[in-house]
Amino acid sequence: MTEATYLHATRTAYDIVAVDYAELLSAELEAKPLDRAMLTTFAELVRASELGPVADLGCGPGRVTAHLHSLGVTVFGIDLSAEMVAVARRTHPDLRFEEGSMTALDLADDVLGGVVAWYSTVHTPPELLPTVFAEFHRVLAPGGHLLLAFKVGDERRHLEQAYGHELSLDVYWMPPDHVAELLDEAGLVVDARLIREPDESERPRQGQQAYFLARRPGKP
Ligand SMILES: C[S@@+](CC[C@H](N)C(=O)[O-])C[C@H]1O[C@@H](n2cnc3c(N)ncnc32)[C@H](O)[C@@H]1O
Repeated sequence: MTEATYLHATRTAYDIVAVDYAELLSAELEAKPLDRAMLTTFAELVRASELGPVADLGCGPGRVTAHLHSLGVTVFGIDLSAEMVAVARRTHPDLRFEEGSMTALDLADDVLGGVVAWYSTVHTPPELLPTVFAEFHRVLAPGGHLLLAFKVGDERRHLEQAYGHELSLDVYWMPPDHVAELLDEAGLVVDARLIREPDESERPRQGQQAYFLARRPGKP
């Protein structure tokens, strides 16, 4: 799949589901202590390093952006979907959200203290992940941190329905070792991997979930 095709399909799908996605997932983090633990650790790391703001890339309705903000992190969100950005702005009027793609960010080099991609690389065809990880490396300051959440597996699932709507959307389940290799090839060092089992709300359709903390090496 070309970059343009995947971006168009993903944007269209999330424009359709934005309002319902936001409602259905608004309280999801409250029931996921391990996910919150990774976000808390990431927040502590970026606060301590004082290298710049955090970008929540593929922020959707901004629930993770807002959670990080509540942990004292200076953070803004970027998403491909105009409808998602509109929902995020309405829900969190005190925070900044912009349209954009993580494949070509409108950000200067070395400006971010952190990047979060919380289940937002899951629609990127694996052959395009090197482009995305190269962008993460480019915009992170040396010493800046990355938090990546994704679904563990080795397959593409094509969805025709989600969040109560008909749509057309690919989801890629990725082997953690392969993701670690791609991050390494992009010049990012993986500091920690959490692989957790699916919880009750995720079974039986979902499998293991992965959370990687990585870092652009180098002294600030
Ligand atoms: C599963 S949702 C996750 C949203 C949010 N991170 C959360 O956890 O609620 C995936 C989001 O990633 C966004 N996305 C996918 N590919 C993207 C890209 N190339 N650039 C920016 N956003 C992208 C979608 O528009 C969608 O809002």
